[in-house]
Amino acid sequence: MPAKIIDGKKIASSFLENIKKRVKEIKESPGLAIVLVGNNPASEIYVNFKEKTCKEVGFYCERYNLDEGIKQSELLNLIDKLNQNKKIHGIIVQLPLPKHINEHLVIDSILPHKDADGFTPLSLGNLVNDNNMLLPATARACIELIKSTGQNIEGKNAVVVGRSKIVGKPTALLLLQENATVTLCHSKTKNLEEHTKNADILVVACGKPRFIKKGMVGKNAIVIDVGINRVMGKVVGDVDFESVKEIASYITPVPGGVGPMTIAMLLDNTLKAAEIAAKM
Ligand code: GUN
Repeated sequence: MPAKIIDGKKIASSFLENIKKRVKEIKESPGLAIVLVGNNPASEIYVNFKEKTCKEVGFYCERYNLDEGIKQSELLNLIDKLNQNKKIHGIIVQLPLPKHINEHLVIDSILPHKDADGFTPLSLGNLVNDNNMLLPATARACIELIKSTGQNIEGKNAVVVGRSKIVGKPTALLLLQENATVTLCHSKTKNLEEHTKNADILVVACGKPRFIKKGMVGKNAIVIDVGINRVMGKVVGDVDFESVKEIASYITPVPGGVGPMTIAMLLDNTLKAAEIAAKM
């Protein structure tokens, strides 16, 4: 039997409905600042979606489109201002940044309680300590999509392909929190398919179009595809969807899987930050 499709768009829209209700319950609209540096076409598309969804759920949104050549000090000044702005509860700086800017320094300059992406060293340290505050949105999205299947994560073999700091590593840590036995694979992993074939849960975030083929996936696996790649004008994931769906039990499509859910989690983080600010 072909895999059941995990409809990320539908699951995200029910999260967004819940967010809309919670927004009405707090005095001040949650505010998100989105900072985009340069003209990376993929980043522009992601940021457009974030801004549009923000408005749909009744958030206040400030978007900054900065020139590719902006000085690092100017970017740091902007973040400093956003840190102090009471209307802003969450700040995201879209990655990647141009080469002349030190990404670590910029991310670290965001106040931890406004870190809607969960990328600051404090947020990531909290995650390692199982002290969940604001968690990386894509990693949260993967966990929610796995849970939406109704299958237990505890005790399962979970394999993550890709060790990026914004997806692979935090997803592996969250799966560990859910008591999965976690293997984190990467470009230097030997005999990758021996690991991936053994996965009950397979999360793929390696940035290579249709990299995971049917022969690399075990029967009845839950497959979560984080990849967004453009191939001859078509958006495809890191998983060869057409062949893998014949063997998996559940699979996320691209587009319409992890992407919409990541935005829902980003907005949920921002709302959480606003709820905390309202209590302070
Ligand atoms: N670039 C790719 N994914 C993300 C994300 O989730 N947040 C930010 N800020 N940049 C990204």
